[in-house]
Amino acid sequence: MARAAVGIVGAGPAGLVLAHLLADHGIEAVVLEQKSREYVEKRVRAGLLEHRTVALLERHGLAERLRARGQVHRGVELRFDGARHRIAYGELCGGRHMTVYAQQELVGDLIGLWLARGGTIAFEAEDVRLHGIEGERPELCWSAGGRSERLACEFVAGCDGFHGASRPAIPAAALRVYDHPLPFAWVGVLAAVAPSTEEIVYAQHERGFAGHMLRSDTVSRFYLQTAPGDPIERWPDARIWDELHRRLATGDGWTLREGPVLEKSVTDMRSFVVEPMQFGRLFLAGDAAHIVPPTGAKGLNLAVADARVLADALALRLQTGDARALDAYSATCLARVWRVQDFSIWMTWLIHRIPDETPDAALRRRLQRAQLERVCGSPAAAATFAESYVGLEEA
Ligand code: APR
Repeated sequence: MARAAVGIVGAGPAGLVLAHLLADHGIEAVVLEQKSREYVEKRVRAGLLEHRTVALLERHGLAERLRARGQVHRGVELRFDGARHRIAYGELCGGRHMTVYAQQELVGDLIGLWLARGGTIAFEAEDVRLHGIEGERPELCWSAGGRSERLACEFVAGCDGFHGASRPAIPAAALRVYDHPLPFAWVGVLAAVAPSTEEIVYAQHERGFAGHMLRSDTVSRFYLQTAPGDPIERWPDARIWDELHRRLATGDGWTLREGPVLEKSVTDMRSFVVEPMQFGRLFLAGDAAHIVPPTGAKGLNLAVADARVLADALALRLQTGDARALDAYSATCLARVWRVQDFSIWMTWLIHRIPDETPDAALRRRLQRAQLERVCGSPAAAATFAESYVGLEEA
């Protein structure tokens, strides 16, 4: 049977960053991934990295391609009533910036670097099961190409996303679950067209939210608010462009360039957290433990932050026997998770059309307008927004 100090389930941002950080501490980890390498390197996800996420990757020599190909941003645009309002978060937050870099590019970089340093990833690992997480000798079992495989480890990191196998391995009674669906969904669109904006745009409109995000000089990402459960078949390309034109329209002659749609899907929004993020020798990180609504693009950054805390805590425990940081892992991460939930939920309600069936919809719409005007009109309110948007609060 194979052995490693840490068995990591999932080769997303959380699992891969954890693997690298552990290796930098001299700790051996093996990664199990359900999908193929090709699949995870192409899966379209988020694409906005906080300053401190990039700084961590740089410190560990993981940011060379990101530095060369990522785009640095220092402002974001909020649009409503056809007017544009720029929040200059770079100036408001002491020069901190954000980097636009697609998650699948980052995942591809981390996989390439991990394999180059001699690391192991078992791709296409089917039916991963976690055994003995309550005891001292956990084991991971899976099948690959019809063969049964086993890995004995001292600790297991559950980094396998919201639908993974790790969280369900914890007895339900040991977890407190906060699961709140939001009355919003996004049609996410990837299009082969140069961006029509230099900075990310969040538009509040009576037809619903529209977002113009960035990917590269030739590919743009767009989001359109719809109702949860709306099938993508109801969104032919012509309707997508029509809605984007209407919702992003400004009074100053700005125009939207169209291009071929490469990919589109609908994602319902939810807020989800489990407490604690640990059971016995299993530690959950990233989407396996929490989902934030995607407004503000915090999920990837939270996943990397969990991985950083977990790597340091595991290293201390494995190398000195000191378990204090590991015992505090869940509480340390949850403090940040709840702050980010708060901001992500607040920003979601700030920028979306409040559905008619929402209790107090008319009141909420008036309050939403007051908040938008305040964020765009008061330097203090803009600074508060900017601080959460760039993730300044716990540098
Ligand atoms: N066994 C092994 N691997 C699994 C299993 C399983 N049962 N289930 C899922 N996985 C893999 C997925 O294929 C994926 O590669 O685990 C990985 C989890 O990666 P992500 O879902 O990307 O989660 P995480 O690393 O926590 O990244 C945070 O932030 O931008 C958001 O949701 C977005 O994915 C992003 C996340």
